[in-house]
Amino acid sequence: MLWSKSLETGIALIDEQHKELFRQVDILLDPANENRHKESLNFLDRYILKHFGDEQKLQAEAKYPKAAQHKKFHDDYVVVFRKLKEKYLKEGPSPANNMEINKTVVGWLKDHILVHDKEFAAYYKSLK
Ligand SMILES: [Fe+2]
Repeated sequence: MLWSKSLETGIALIDEQHKELFRQVDILLDPANENRHKESLNFLDRYILKHFGDEQKLQAEAKYPKAAQHKKFHDDYVVVFRKLKEKYLKEGPSPANNMEINKTVVGWLKDHILVHDKEFAAYYKSLK
């Protein structure tokens, strides 16, 4: 599993959703699951939106000062992900496309969680 404990934010809803995202990417990167790749890309497409929406809602409720900047990261990423999804659906799995998923999906998610989601989580927890 690509998810690891170091990615934990301590906000249960967010952590559960992050785990689900990584579970889907695990499917996507496993050639043995090729028949499920399309389904998992479509799932990710929907789930990323839901997850970003839930995170943004939490940030708005908590009056997070960086909420607008954080939303911009999310919005930009939706565009990047959709482009990658279209390319993958057209071309199918290949070492190059798998490398791109690793960089663009796994890499982005990890960086985003470790830096930006954790920054929000620290703020969120400091309110309690
Ligand atoms: Fe986020």
